[in-house]
Amino acid sequence: MSNYKMHVLVCGGTGCLSADAAQIVDNLRDEVKAAGMDGDVQVLKTGCFGFCEKGPIVKMLPDNTFYVQVKPEDAKELVAEHIVKGRKVERLLFEDPETSERVSDSKNMDFYKKQMRIALRNCGFIDPDNIEEYIARDGYQAIGKALTEMTPQQVIDVMKESGLRGRGGGGFPTGLKWEFAMKNEADQKYVICNADEGDPGAFMDRSILEGDPHSVVEAMAICGYAIGASKGRVYIRAEYPLAIKRLEKAIDDAREYGLLGTDILGTGFEFDIELTYGAGAFVCGEETALIHSMEGERGEPTTKPPFPAESGYWGKPTNVNNVETFANVPVILLKGAEWYGKIGTERSKGTKVFALAGKINNVGLIEVPMGTTLREVIYDIGGGIKDGKKFKSVQTGGPSGGCLTEKDLDTPIDFDNLIAKGSMMGSGGMIVMDEDDCMPAVAKFYLEFTEEESCGKCTPCRVGTKRLSELLQLITEGKGTMAHLDEMKRLSRVIKDSALCGLGQTAPNPVLSTMEAFWDEYEAHVNDKKCPAGQCSSLLQYFILEDKCIGCTKCARVCPTNCISGEVKKLHVIDQEKCIKCGACMDNCKFKAIIKR
Ligand SMILES: Cc1cc2nc3c(=O)[nH]c(=O)nc-3n(C[C@H](O)[C@H](O)[C@H](O)COP(=O)(O)O)c2cc1C
Ligand code: SF4
Ligand code: SF4
Ligand code: SF4
Ligand code: FES
Repeated sequence: MSNYKMHVLVCGGTGCLSADAAQIVDNLRDEVKAAGMDGDVQVLKTGCFGFCEKGPIVKMLPDNTFYVQVKPEDAKELVAEHIVKGRKVERLLFEDPETSERVSDSKNMDFYKKQMRIALRNCGFIDPDNIEEYIARDGYQAIGKALTEMTPQQVIDVMKESGLRGRGGGGFPTGLKWEFAMKNEADQKYVICNADEGDPGAFMDRSILEGDPHSVVEAMAICGYAIGASKGRVYIRAEYPLAIKRLEKAIDDAREYGLLGTDILGTGFEFDIELTYGAGAFVCGEETALIHSMEGERGEPTTKPPFPAESGYWGKPTNVNNVETFANVPVILLKGAEWYGKIGTERSKGTKVFALAGKINNVGLIEVPMGTTLREVIYDIGGGIKDGKKFKSVQTGGPSGGCLTEKDLDTPIDFDNLIAKGSMMGSGGMIVMDEDDCMPAVAKFYLEFTEEESCGKCTPCRVGTKRLSELLQLITEGKGTMAHLDEMKRLSRVIKDSALCGLGQTAPNPVLSTMEAFWDEYEAHVNDKKCPAGQCSSLLQYFILEDKCIGCTKCARVCPTNCISGEVKKLHVIDQEKCIKCGACMDNCKFKAIIKR
């Protein structure tokens, strides 16, 4: 990179690419060439910058200027103004929603100030398709150090001392897991990278693989050396075509550079990686189901023990780790366990990547030190709640997690704190809800997901999640009773205690946590037949306000059931019997004369 005076980094993550980022790269390159500056300015496509809400993103180095919502037609102005004349294009700079000031340097943006990037260290900085850019950022130095200066046990000791815990959901200590796999003797062992990522709203692993695939390739080889495995497999869902393409290129290039294959760095160590494509079933992310799926069997979990470290892929000792877990490994090995151990909380070291979604201003991908509070994530990094609405709840841990409330906002996020609050870290999905969200409906959404994704092998999960979602259906339709609520609590406990795998054991969490924190809302649905958030259509009625209706007739013309009557310039009225609660009248009334309650 050092030969160029300027670098223009364009996000090539899935989000920005879907908003024409590839065309932006082409146009910028054409404009740079037309200006006769292609020897001085390099235009690069990188991985996700995290601020996907404001994509496509273009960043200029060395001055770190951060342009948002760039369009292909902006390329001409960016080159003519910023690159040729050295003047920033103000209108494309990020506007701080609170101060309305334009912020030029990403380091001064609230979204980035409290972040710390370890797993995402290279995402948005390097071209993921260019192995030399990874090498220029210390890439493959960790495997070099492991192979030439350390014994497998020393590598494992560093991982143990660092305190790194698995980022796939369970939070099991990584070094300990590697040690189990190392100690189980066998003629063949395997390293598996779990890139199934089935949680709704989660895209952490996809972004790492799209933005920095070599970090995972390098870490898998390090793990192979530590446990004594020569074969690596990545189980990746087929819906991730860009991640697959970049990973395949990374593996090919690493092989060509002698960083994978039979004699890595001339040390005699042998390790290679192949991909297996998943069909997109949530349960296939569970490690035993994943292994069965890789073997061509049905993707159903089996009881543990035996753990994969004893008997995994093809019955051989196998170490399964998540993508983000692996992405941390090379840095830990280079910078040391002590450095890593200083980041985070007592029992949860390092950082965690979260996919921030829902009713929040700055939707995107963030990485924060463990111990950052939910308030800091939602308000400082996330920019607060959309449209000035009131915060109601944040759901962490995906379908296995729970809903946290206002009183939990100052909780430092780590594995144990979230569990103590009735939720969990999971793989890092974080969905923020505002005053308009109905909590029984939220619980129903998650239950419908787990019901659909249950593999059906064991009865408590197969039948129990179906029954729970039926009960939630009754409640949100205003047909629930207090006995139904009792039944939901009892059933949730039974499913948790008796389901075979983590999917069933955690499926009732959204139900239990919303019942605990929002009991009033459940009671309102059951006793008063009302949805306080105004979301459950069966419990709503649409009304026309006498003092606002001017009799323009628009509502009557759009109503599909002709249930609105009234003369021109006179008050209109809705026949509640015939109303199907489609909301078309409210959407079309320019005078805000229609309300629902
Ligand atoms: C239903 C279910 C789905 C899971 N999905 C994933 C997944 O998509 N990715 C993942 O890494 N781990 C997933 N896990 C956790 C894995 O079983 C396993 O613990 C993890 O891959 C181990 O890696 P780690 O120690 O690096 O976290 C899932 C677990 C369950 C019960
Ligand atoms: S708990 Fe659910 S997903 Fe897990 S084995 Fe049983 S039926 Fe399958
Ligand atoms: S659209 Fe609004 S203002 Fe017009 S008749 Fe209907 S309720 Fe009245
Ligand atoms: S909600 Fe739909 S059906 Fe009901 S009055 Fe309005 S437009 Fe007609
Ligand atoms: S995909 Fe471009 S910033 Fe995330």
